Amino acid sequence: MSPTTEITRAAATLRAGGLVAFPTETVYGLGADAENPDALARLFAVKGRPTDHPVIVHIGDRSDLDAWAVDLPDVARSLAEEFWPGPLTLVVRAGSRVSRLATGGLETVGLRVPDHPVARALVQDFGGGIAAPSANRFGRVSPTSADAVRRELGPDVDRVLDGGGCSIGVESTIVDCTGPAISVLRPGGITEEHLEQATGHRPAVGGATRAPGTLPSHYAPDAGVEVVEPEHLAATVTAHRRAGRRVGVIGLAVDVVGEAALDPAVTLAAVETVDEYARALYAALRAADEMGIDIVVAATPPAVGLGVAVRDRLRRAAGDR
Ligand code: TXA
Ligand code: MG
Repeated sequence: MSPTTEITRAAATLRAGGLVAFPTETVYGLGADAENPDALARLFAVKGRPTDHPVIVHIGDRSDLDAWAVDLPDVARSLAEEFWPGPLTLVVRAGSRVSRLATGGLETVGLRVPDHPVARALVQDFGGGIAAPSANRFGRVSPTSADAVRRELGPDVDRVLDGGGCSIGVESTIVDCTGPAISVLRPGGITEEHLEQATGHRPAVGGATRAPGTLPSHYAPDAGVEVVEPEHLAATVTAHRRAGRRVGVIGLAVDVVGEAALDPAVTLAAVETVDEYARALYAALRAADEMGIDIVVAATPPAVGLGVAVRDRLRRAAGDR
């Protein structure tokens, strides 16, 4: 089937109330019509997601912002102007068009224009908003390939569009624009440095607003995850090996190479940069489970650029279950 035919069919599936998984530049999303209560109910059921946890509504263009939001502050407009299409979700006051099932009952909505040709073509062909959380079961690792989606959701998803691997690999940055100053609810593809350049201020991080991606345990594989400073990697791996555990290692190549060879640990990912770390992270966590690894030891990257988002996801992958 040609890519255009596949997108046309997927848009028809959405219009019929079905669920379509699609690629974005961050992770794969599991999409449903943001105005169809039955489709949204099924979306939450398939994800196993509590109904009071809002999902992001994906729209086709920044000019659609006013169709989905009300009382837009100037800062939301200028961030959309600067970063859309792209890995930025803006939390703004929801217009009447947005089903309150998608917002988890909140009067605010997370909106994003994804920067992936398949996602944009799908939203445009569909002609509405696509409510889409990451295409994983609640609390689990987000998928960054079509194959990972199929393995995660099986027959529970009506269609999976394959757009290859995700270029960023961790979820979008969520910026709350409903308060007197913006705040970052979840670090992601648009970094604090980017936001500072665009607004002239270093944004506040964290806030009172609820964002379930910020639960202590999330993005978790079956294997345990231990996050260590690079200088403690070798000793930590050795200790786990001595206790008879199958160990997998993730980290920057400078930290991992040599250390992992000291011991018969499995190198899940040895990356050159923080961007590559983000791109490889979720596939490495999934691979750990497929390989029957007991414990993933991750050498933490520096907190610059995408390193902030990687550290956030590692901490949550290691969180109490
Ligand atoms: O990169 C991404 O954002 C991906 C792709 C598919 O776009 N989507 C994604 O969706 O990560 P999900 O559902 O896994 O995470 C959405 C996050 C949740 O933490 C949710 O709490 C937050 O967005 N969120 C959505 N609407 C919100 C709102 N009105 N107020 C506060 N947080 C909101
Ligand atoms: Mg998610």
